[in-house]
Amino acid sequence: MKKKLIAGNWKMNGSLAANEALVRALQAGLATHTASCDVAVCVPAPYLAQAQGLLAAGGIALGAQDVSAFEVGAYTGEASASMLKEFGVRYCLVGHSERRLYHGETDVLVATKAQRALAAGITPIVCIGETLAEREAGRTEEVVKRQLAAVIAANGHCVSEIVVAYEPVWAIGTGKTASPEQAQQVHAVLRAQLHAASAHADRIQILYGGSMNAANANQLLAQADIDGGLIGGAALKSADFLTIIAAAQ
Ligand code: 13P
Repeated sequence: MKKKLIAGNWKMNGSLAANEALVRALQAGLATHTASCDVAVCVPAPYLAQAQGLLAAGGIALGAQDVSAFEVGAYTGEASASMLKEFGVRYCLVGHSERRLYHGETDVLVATKAQRALAAGITPIVCIGETLAEREAGRTEEVVKRQLAAVIAANGHCVSEIVVAYEPVWAIGTGKTASPEQAQQVHAVLRAQLHAASAHADRIQILYGGSMNAANANQLLAQADIDGGLIGGAALKSADFLTIIAAAQ
């Protein structure tokens, strides 16, 4: 059975002092119960060097929250995949709904970002998910399949190297979690789509994200096609994040 992945997305939160306290508390917690799942934290770009140092002891992988679709050059404000790699970045979120919404990221741009990450040896965590209006219009499957299809088209057989995160937009930061059945239903659709695209789709971890917390993680992670979680708010509280990691064992 493949390992689960529990990834924290710190979003635009933190400070040098808060990051250190959070990582030290996670490390102390993991020292007593070694995680049998993969664990990562996706930190804001200015803190990559700090996080690289703090995480050097091992046990928690370093993730970034975005990557440029370009390789190098006159792209003010952007960070390339090779730059992220120099800081020991193992995972990179691409296409988070907040980037799609506030920065106009399209399916094609997200697919290119995934490609850049893969080329640098970084695992892209490709985020997809429908809005409330799309769900209410019965368009959930169509939307997530379209978002994933762009990544499959751009990445060919390399798609088996990605991680997918299904994050219904209406569940992010709202306290409204998809029910385990709702999430499983979408994950099964995504799994079938990945199988049709790659002979090695079995190894692809499909994470759920959207108000996953210490209380609901167990049930979500028990679903057949939920291979982990992408956690926002609850990843900023060490006790909650550790509980979610324990639920993934
Ligand atoms: P919350 O866990 O705060 O709902 O955020 C989910 C998310 O967007 C993770 O990427």
